Amino acid sequence: MPAIAYVNGDYTPLRDANVPIEDRGYQFADGIYEVCLYINGRYWDFDGHLDRMERSLRELRMASPMSRRALQIVMSELVRRNGLTDALVYIQATRGVAPRDHAFPAPSTPPSLVMTAKRFDLDASDATAERGVGVITHPDIRWGRVDIKTVSLLPNVLAKQAAREASAAEAWLVRDDKVTEGSSSNAWIVDSEGALVTHPKGFEILGGITRETALACASDLQIKVDERAFTVNEAKSAAEAFVTSATNLVTPVTAIDGAPVGDGAPGPVAMRLREAYKLRARGL
Ligand code: PDD
Repeated sequence: MPAIAYVNGDYTPLRDANVPIEDRGYQFADGIYEVCLYINGRYWDFDGHLDRMERSLRELRMASPMSRRALQIVMSELVRRNGLTDALVYIQATRGVAPRDHAFPAPSTPPSLVMTAKRFDLDASDATAERGVGVITHPDIRWGRVDIKTVSLLPNVLAKQAAREASAAEAWLVRDDKVTEGSSSNAWIVDSEGALVTHPKGFEILGGITRETALACASDLQIKVDERAFTVNEAKSAAEAFVTSATNLVTPVTAIDGAPVGDGAPGPVAMRLREAYKLRARGL
């Protein structure tokens, strides 16, 4: 079965799916996106992702491409047409197609909406979590509004590539010696008291939806949380470390810049949180 994409009203084989070259997403990275996990008939953290998408659109003064109800129908239809049970659904909206000009196009310009769905292997994700992953540290050279989930991801791309070349799974971005977040995930440590530490929300990080649900899980589990920036040294001497994102769920970090975190094995707090997250995100 060929992969099917949704492009501005049509379901098209992915290999034939195109957008015009004057799409503002292509020319200016003038667009936003979301990544949402669909497992066995359910979207995980659905409202959180759709709320954030609406916020991203508002912050960039972009029109909404369709109602939330219609979006949900298209997402489900896309998953169905791709014959998937477990999927990652990618949604991208841009300010539409218009002659190249930095300023916004005419208000009548319809936004572009593109969606793809690919298979997600929850068992493989669990196996990765059981092993843990390595991260490297990398300078955070991003702009001042990374709380908006824009498709403008060049610094993230460069950081992830640096991680890949160092055989690590993720790059933890560092500004003023503080870890802000990962190139495509939020960064957490567990301190010697067993408390979770993660950068507070604000303009310096993307407010992860998985992060939000993990915070709720921590509260359920009566795990203390300290929402503050932590230094690279704190991370390297932490009891545990982990990342959160729609694609990673909660995944233990077992090495930073090649040095083991704690005893170098996935930590118990991160693993408990992962299990709690799986239940809560699917609404159980
Ligand atoms: N990335 N921080 C950044 C920079 C991200 O790109 C992401 C997600 C997150 C975690 O957000 P959430 O928990 O809502 O997935 C944090 C997605 C998965 C991506 O770009 O593919």
